[in-house]
Amino acid sequence: MSQRSCLSVILAAGEGTRMKSALPKVLHPIAGLPMVAHVAKAAEAAGSGDLALVIGHGADEMRKAAQKFAPNAETFVQETRLGTAHAVLAARAAISKGYDDILVMFGDTPLIEPEALAVARQKLAEGAAVVVVGFRPPNPTGYGRLIEKGGRLVAIREEKDCSDEEKKICFCNAGMMAVAGRSALELLDKVGNANAKGEFYLTDIVEIAGAKALDVVATEASFESALGINNRAELAEAEGIWQARRRREAMLAGVTLIAPETVYFSHDTEIGADTVVEPNVWFGLGVKISTGATIHAFSHMTGATIAENCEVGPFARLRPGTDLRKKAKVGNFCEVKQATVEEGAKVNHLTYIGDARVGAAANIGAGTITCNYDGYSKFFTDIGEGAFVGSNSSLVAPITIGKGSYIASGSVLTESVPDDALAFGRARQKTIPGKGKEIRERFASAAAARKK
Ligand code: UD1
Ligand code: CA
Repeated sequence: MSQRSCLSVILAAGEGTRMKSALPKVLHPIAGLPMVAHVAKAAEAAGSGDLALVIGHGADEMRKAAQKFAPNAETFVQETRLGTAHAVLAARAAISKGYDDILVMFGDTPLIEPEALAVARQKLAEGAAVVVVGFRPPNPTGYGRLIEKGGRLVAIREEKDCSDEEKKICFCNAGMMAVAGRSALELLDKVGNANAKGEFYLTDIVEIAGAKALDVVATEASFESALGINNRAELAEAEGIWQARRRREAMLAGVTLIAPETVYFSHDTEIGADTVVEPNVWFGLGVKISTGATIHAFSHMTGATIAENCEVGPFARLRPGTDLRKKAKVGNFCEVKQATVEEGAKVNHLTYIGDARVGAAANIGAGTITCNYDGYSKFFTDIGEGAFVGSNSSLVAPITIGKGSYIASGSVLTESVPDDALAFGRARQKTIPGKGKEIRERFASAAAARKK
């Protein structure tokens, strides 16, 4: 990685009215992470050390979000939106600190690949003053066109300012630029607003640099890299592309996805080799899976840690704080929350385990419920190693079920059970021979009497 210092300026002052949302556009998530955070991540991956975030609409919310996804970013408020060059200049104080490279990106272009930024930085290192990342969209309408003369980039013309001839150009401005730090402010300060929109266009620095005989070059990135999000249909499209990239990455890293297009990852999902994921699985935020696990169909998990060779689902729900140790099993229609299921323990059918520990090799029968909540507070259930909890038991927390103990099926337990004990929490069965027949006869003759 280059030794050159670099500042990334991410423009995110826009309102994004077409999202029709109370949430600022760039905070809408892709794979659970705000789109502007994807941009920040790409900048970081391209070796950009410092980050300046230009905000405007929803500034408080933006600042709060930035504290999470980029705690070291400096935020700058652009009070009135007078164009992209004006927006970059909102970060003047950061730019004037003096960097070798300045990267400019848009907060609503979440799929940019770090490589495209790294290539642009490389051009700066080779002496260019301005590097424009271009792309070839299937339909160039609306994009700035790259005007080249004799193989050199001489200008970027915004759609509204283009002649009919220029509108035919397919090579467009993707929106990312790299500018030599030594020239950045000098170029930006020369930008005027004599154009169709009356805005200060960042793109004008191309012509300004050319007039100063500075070196201006265009690079080319993939269409996806430059996909800008303006509405929720485009948001879904970007999500789809992100998921496709991630699934491929997972498969190439040794994860089997039987029907990849039905498996959804979050930006932070970690999943080890030789894990098999069946169709229709949702990985929410904060899931870590070690190697050799099997995730059966229709499972949904968030904030769960899964050790080697565990088995989950089908139809399992793992909520935050779930910690499955080696070879643990959580089967169909089970929900686990804030609970550790230790090595080899089995929670196989129709069970809720919340605020609990299930000791190694314990067996939790079908329909068992940890009653962890009294409407006000949560309480803990501790189930010892090797315990056997009979089906349809309710364990009313706080409670300890001792090691090796045996709980009769259908129990409602409100008191702790010592190690190796047998506990019944239900009335004993009573059987009266012949009584069933006698009752039938009595009811039948009463019904006949009523009909007369
Ligand atoms: C811009 C480019 C165009 C390029 C296209 C790629 C300019 C003048 N045009 O056009 O060449 O093809 O992106 O998608 O740069 N913003 C601010 N403050 C402002 C204005 C904009 O923060 O005053 C932010 C917006 O929130 C947005 C980004 O800058 O994230 C781009 O602005 P937008 O108005 O969408 O530019 P385009 O017209 O799409
Ligand atoms: Ca745009």
